[in-house]
Amino acid sequence: MVLGEQHINELNETFRLVSDYDFSDYSEKSLLRRIEKILSDESMSFQELILKLKTDRVFLEHVVKEITVNTTELFRDPKIWHIIKYQILKKLQEKETLNIWHVGCSSGQEVYSMNILLHEAGLADRTKLYGTDINGDMLARAQEGRYPFRFNLEYLDNFKQVVQINPLNYEDFNDVPFSKYFEIDELNDTIKVREILKSNVEFKKHNLVNQDNLFKIKFDMILCRNVLIYFNVRLQNKLFHTFSDNLLRKGYLILGAHESILGPEVFGLIKHGNYYIKK
Ligand SMILES: C[S@@+](CC[C@H](N)C(=O)[O-])C[C@H]1O[C@@H](n2cnc3c(N)ncnc32)[C@H](O)[C@@H]1O
Repeated sequence: MVLGEQHINELNETFRLVSDYDFSDYSEKSLLRRIEKILSDESMSFQELILKLKTDRVFLEHVVKEITVNTTELFRDPKIWHIIKYQILKKLQEKETLNIWHVGCSSGQEVYSMNILLHEAGLADRTKLYGTDINGDMLARAQEGRYPFRFNLEYLDNFKQVVQINPLNYEDFNDVPFSKYFEIDELNDTIKVREILKSNVEFKKHNLVNQDNLFKIKFDMILCRNVLIYFNVRLQNKLFHTFSDNLLRKGYLILGAHESILGPEVFGLIKHGNYYIKK
């Protein structure tokens, strides 16, 4: 069965009718792909899906988790982490306290990557990191900070590229062992985040579509990476206002490698290479 706009409308209406979830400003293309996958995995028709959404809350939560894509990794896109390390954190050295919000943090690797750079820069004890996501299962994983090891072997390489190697000067090798921040348990095939990376971190469930900043503070940095690609332009523009409103003056906004803001000035933001600064 080929799904189209009327199916998406019916799905969105159902979500609105029986829950607080609202996917009406998600990109139609990506929503269609996710729904087709759910129908195939569950071996059900579209009408059966709608009926089950109306009658089975556990199933509805499962569908929400299936709709949202949770792919993430430690130091994803090393280039942006070089910029954070060598440009942004250097500018924040003088601040007495720092607050950083990771919006759509999935299972937490982005938050822990930031915390490693904060530790290496001597900033961790004055920084609080906040990670939020719509998916409670991912947040539970983030809180636990335990990840499959063999599946994530490239983590070691990303760590080396960002924490140990200086791409501007290869002689400036920083011999920080992976074991300073992670415990590798080869027997159980897991890597576990050490407690020092957890003490200044808070994870909370949050729906970006219809909830404001839960923390009632303004941030020095907001990262919302690889989340906006799943939304339409209207929702993206609304969120650029939200991010700008919740940044301190001269605060930093960092998006994913394939995300950008058309006309950032409208939102009170100035583009600086790969990131934005609040005016
Ligand atoms: C592809 S992951 C990105 C994770 C991480 N930021 C990164 O770049 O590696 C996208 C995350 O956005 C979350 N997400 C999707 N819709 C959301 C919403 N309405 N509110 C909050 N988080 C949402 C998903 O649950 C998912 O964990």
